[in-house]
Amino acid sequence: VNGKIVIPVVVNVLYNTNAENISDTQIQSQIDVLNQDFTASNSDFNKIPDEFALVAANVDITFELVNIIRKSTSKKSWGTRDAMKKSKQGGIDPTSPATTLNLWSCNIGGGILGYAQFPGGAAATDGVVIDSDYFGLSSTSSYPYNLGRTASHEVGHWMNLRHIWGDASCGNDLVADTPIAKTANFGVPNYPYISTCGTDNHAEMTMNYMDYTDDRGMYMFTNGQKSRMSALFVSGGVRSGFRN
Ligand code: ARG
Ligand code: ZN
Ligand code: CA
Repeated sequence: VNGKIVIPVVVNVLYNTNAENISDTQIQSQIDVLNQDFTASNSDFNKIPDEFALVAANVDITFELVNIIRKSTSKKSWGTRDAMKKSKQGGIDPTSPATTLNLWSCNIGGGILGYAQFPGGAAATDGVVIDSDYFGLSSTSSYPYNLGRTASHEVGHWMNLRHIWGDASCGNDLVADTPIAKTANFGVPNYPYISTCGTDNHAEMTMNYMDYTDDRGMYMFTNGQKSRMSALFVSGGVRSGFRN
């Protein structure tokens, strides 16, 4: 154990069309985005407003692509019930989920960008699904979700992060240094976007990866979110299998 958290990643590609058979370059671009976003080396990190800069985190977790598995399929869309993770249902079973982050790229359908399994769920379905249109740095046709931030958001869930608004009106995301948010934000709200929760007026942290803003509008995790994520990887933690 050297303290460094490096996450081995296997990418499972299910394709019905040539476009869904995303290239190795496309896949590597997603790994690069994850590495940037989780080490505060994303090029837009300097956009963080001063009032949030103090709590902005270098999560200090990195990702390493170890394998790409491809499978042609007659299925045109996969939905969100984990069929893509099961060979018996035409999908691809995860590789060593206790020690590997499995990503699936496929056509989810229904306008869903991606979805994740929280820590503590079944090993057989552990991992993150990203629609192939939004996997990695993608073409302008995928705008405004073309910068690979769907995976940054979903891997946040996979590492135990809740939505910043706590999935309720002015809800609780169990993180102390993210300000209370009224609801999900979309687009790229102008800073300061003031919300009212009770009598407290404050700027929302719409640039957090765990909001629903456009890819170009999200560029930070906080120290509190980092603590929540890091706790999974300590000895005895839910994802302790990932320690090097
Ligand atoms: N709607 C998805 C979820 O709830 C992902 C949203 C990702 N947002 C983005 N800008 N790519 O998990
Ligand atoms: Zn989410
Ligand atoms: Ca909070």
